Amino acid sequence: MTGVLITFEGIDGCGKTSVAQEVSSMLEEAGRDVILTQEPTKTWLGESVKRGISEEHPALTEAFLFMADRASHSKSISEWLSDGKLVLCDRYADSTICYQAASLVIEGFEGDPFEWLRRISDAFVLKPTLTLLLDVEPRVALERIQSRERMTKFERLDFLEKVRENFLRLADIEDRIKAIDASGTFDDVVSATEDRILETID
Ligand code: TYD
Repeated sequence: MTGVLITFEGIDGCGKTSVAQEVSSMLEEAGRDVILTQEPTKTWLGESVKRGISEEHPALTEAFLFMADRASHSKSISEWLSDGKLVLCDRYADSTICYQAASLVIEGFEGDPFEWLRRISDAFVLKPTLTLLLDVEPRVALERIQSRERMTKFERLDFLEKVRENFLRLADIEDRIKAIDASGTFDDVVSATEDRILETID
């Protein structure tokens, strides 16, 4: 039996982590065999990614850190899928394409880093059956996370505008990506997300 991989994406403050947790509990209660996982992972590789982004390194270094973490994580996800699990992943390859493309453009990377990152990702990542893009305006997203103790360097308006543009660009290209309006109430977003998932797995 093969499982199903569903990923959650969106800019910082879109609410995907809380939504993924809620949806995961609801699906488990409904008897589904769910694994909720995330990137950066909780392994030493994920910790290295977090350390990397808390320091000043070239965007290319960051891109490869995220991808190193993902290479190992993808192996675990493959095993869960072979066991027939419903794997929900809070951020996956699309985050690297959209965040690191934005950083690489700022650094003056030659060519189109968005396309370059898509190509190198394609070579090793798993293809999710469904990707939920929790879409919200960066201004609203930033208001939500302003009270957080530690903000990452990615959590700035101009940067998140670029990341959001990249997510919308990717959603135009990839049929598996379904945008969900994440500006509404938590319950509305959870319900829209759950509907999309059930449509896909039932
Ligand atoms: P995350 O732990 O998901 O942050 P949050 O829970 O606050 O959304 O991710 C940490 C930061 O790393 C976040 O700003 C998004 C960014 N990120 C990338 O830039 N590229 C990636 O491939 C991933 C997975 C995350």
